[in-house]
Amino acid sequence: MTKVLILYSSIDGHTKKIVETIKENLDSKNIISLSTINNAPENIENFDKILIASSIRYWKILPVARKFVQENHQILNTKKTAFVNINLTARKTWKDTPETNAYTKKFLLKTPLKPKLTWVFAWKLDYSLYGPLDTLMIKLIMKITWWPTKTPEPIEYTNWEKVKEFARDFDTL
Ligand SMILES: Cc1cc2nc3c(=O)[nH]c(=O)nc-3n(C[C@H](O)[C@H](O)[C@H](O)COP(=O)(O)O)c2cc1C
Repeated sequence: MTKVLILYSSIDGHTKKIVETIKENLDSKNIISLSTINNAPENIENFDKILIASSIRYWKILPVARKFVQENHQILNTKKTAFVNINLTARKTWKDTPETNAYTKKFLLKTPLKPKLTWVFAWKLDYSLYGPLDTLMIKLIMKITWWPTKTPEPIEYTNWEKVKEFARDFDTL
């Protein structure tokens, strides 16, 4: 039986929803642990496969994820480690792969982590969650790129079929 560890960092909860969907779609014969990076188990070397998931805030992978990867890359690189990145830019289908998403490309270039599998997923737009400054920033970015600056309901740009496809790929890693 494969021991799988899923670690995530999420501010508004969307990355959490994505990793929970991944977990639900993994082979049920796996033994799967899911937790925030802050609550990562001490003994990560006991796992066969590890998934690290983080969203982007202000052009960067969340600091907790960057720190964890920096401190644990030697162990992570000996495992079947995957990395998934969630961000606004990936709502554009021509910017939603590790090769075309600038944040993911930059992170992979700079980090000592060498994931065996990397995927990018698009975000959820929910203006009700952001404080005034963050709302202003998001609206500015959306306006520049001609996307909605007002939505009565949150919009999920995430392609859930792609999330399930990732789960299948991660299973066969
Ligand atoms: C304040 C703020 C800043 C953001 N900065 C970026 C950014 O620089 N680039 C980007 O592509 N997405 C950016 N995003 C989009 C987030 O990556 C997206 O909302 C993601 O779904 C958040 O995941 P979480 O709910 O797990 O925290 C930003 C979102 C917020 C609210």
